[in-house]
Amino acid sequence: MCGIVGYTGTEAAKDILISGLKRLEYRGYDSAGVALERTSAHETVVDVIRRVGKVAGLESELANVDAEAACGIGHTRWATHGRPSTVNAHPHVSCDGRIAIVHNGIIENFAELRSELEGRGHTFASETDTEVFAHLIEEAYAREHDLLGALREACTHVVGAYGIAAVCADEPGVIAVARKDSPIIIGRGEHGSYVASDMIAVIDSTRDVVVLEDGQFARLTPEGISYTDAQGEPIEPPVTHVDWNIDMAEKAGYPDFMLKEICEQPRVVRDTLVGRMTGGELSIDELGLSLEELNLIDRVYVIACGTSYHAGLIAKNLIEMWARIPCEVEAASEFRYRDPIITPSTLVVAVSQSGETADTLAAIRDARIKGAKVFGITNVVGSPVARESDGVIYTKANKEIAVASTKSFIGQVVSLTLLALLLAQVKYRLTVGQVRMLFRELGDTAEQIQWIFETQKDAIHEAALACKDAHSALFVGRGMGAAIANEGALKLKEISYLHAEAYAAGEMKHGPIALIDPGFPVIAIATKSPVYDKTVSNLKECEARGAKIIVVATEGDEDIREIADHVIYIPRVRDAFCAITATVPLQLLAREVALMRGCDVDQPRNLAKSVTVE
Ligand code: M6R
Repeated sequence: MCGIVGYTGTEAAKDILISGLKRLEYRGYDSAGVALERTSAHETVVDVIRRVGKVAGLESELANVDAEAACGIGHTRWATHGRPSTVNAHPHVSCDGRIAIVHNGIIENFAELRSELEGRGHTFASETDTEVFAHLIEEAYAREHDLLGALREACTHVVGAYGIAAVCADEPGVIAVARKDSPIIIGRGEHGSYVASDMIAVIDSTRDVVVLEDGQFARLTPEGISYTDAQGEPIEPPVTHVDWNIDMAEKAGYPDFMLKEICEQPRVVRDTLVGRMTGGELSIDELGLSLEELNLIDRVYVIACGTSYHAGLIAKNLIEMWARIPCEVEAASEFRYRDPIITPSTLVVAVSQSGETADTLAAIRDARIKGAKVFGITNVVGSPVARESDGVIYTKANKEIAVASTKSFIGQVVSLTLLALLLAQVKYRLTVGQVRMLFRELGDTAEQIQWIFETQKDAIHEAALACKDAHSALFVGRGMGAAIANEGALKLKEISYLHAEAYAAGEMKHGPIALIDPGFPVIAIATKSPVYDKTVSNLKECEARGAKIIVVATEGDEDIREIADHVIYIPRVRDAFCAITATVPLQLLAREVALMRGCDVDQPRNLAKSVTVE
């Protein structure tokens, strides 16, 4: 949630900040702002320019500002405390306006701190939790006259999560940085020093970065960077070289990130499988559990949110079918406040694209306290989910920019399928030969997705036309189809704002069928599976009531045309793997409907890519 970028050096800070903020916009786009140092013959001041809405608005405003600053900080916001408004936009400043800060995270004790600070004469301009930080630093600076020292002291009063960067007019060219539970990277480039909440903001300028750890501080100047610990002692954190290039994060010729990311899915399948079958044996070394420990597992919980939760629903089917281990899938936000039955033989699998979803992290911590082994599946190397789990699989989706998850979902499902196969192998429920055969078929899904891109474009377009003017839609299926329906409905509603719900097809007649009137879209996953006939029967009931029926079916199934108004085919695939292929046309369908309805498919309203608040 929210994005931070900062620069101090010899170039125009304004341009570097705007370019960084544009790249960070996927993290939140309620408002954006910068603080730029301006030095005249007599003094240095900090100019703060903020604007509600996207970074493009701030950019136009800055075009009229004659800013030659070579030091500044910027922020793009996703509102938590306080509505999206100019006064609530970052940067926030101290009473005298000489200190400005940008902050990601939540200050939990802000109300208490605010009333103490007000009691001591501070005046607040915003409704945010962040602003207390500016005033705390101001108080400490009055005593210490050292920006980094003042920031360090301010942090001792704050309870919560923060990635924070501060500038002060009395220390021109200096940016002070701190972190706790909110990512910060720092890098040195040819023209100066950079700080950001995400590598993507500064990748044009630096490749060698320090990933700041909790409790570490940094002082950036045009000449260099120094690091200290919470006691102020100098430290030398390791420098990581980042070798992915900006093309990976750009649209690469696609009209939007969502389409680019959907089209990358065959590669994601292949990359996620690389190195997993060595010497004919399936291996997931990063699991952090011995074969003996795996063999003892008698219950699995998958905890996740949103799309990652839906990947968990697919995993439940596979783990129970192949490994015969009971598997429960829970929204992390529910799991953390229940008292789930956890024993040392429980495996908790935490799934998170970003690796920083607050509810998932809290659930991991809770599960570990209760004695479970926790295994993370995430897309972000070094993310909190990766660091706080006993073992981790990285999904190899690479950076996902569109707010709606697509390729990371496929990476998650493939990774969870590997886990299910491994558990089945360890439990002797599947032979090594069966695991190898299934592994090969899993790899085949890469080409099957490609086949969908090449052959089903028109069918998806026709289906989208049939949905675009609807007020509501139902997604139905049975077995794997029911799990896939959930993801189809989420994709449609989050990017097209068309209300959609998923139902197990057999549940339709227990209530939802009342919604159906002539023309109501029912989107079904009815691939050739053991429950195919049952699903078709349920669709007939909808057809009889006038529903417009759109079916994702198996290539060659001509009979389905008798009840379907529109058919989108996927290649014939084992039921266990149809989640991978059948989800793809539903992603494309959602995107087409959203575009037809004039929606921004990459940045849907009210959402953010990383949900780091409860
Ligand atoms: O980063 P995570 O996988 O933990 O995020 C979970 C959800 O916030 C995320 O999947 C969300 O539902 C997406 N907008 C779905 O497209």
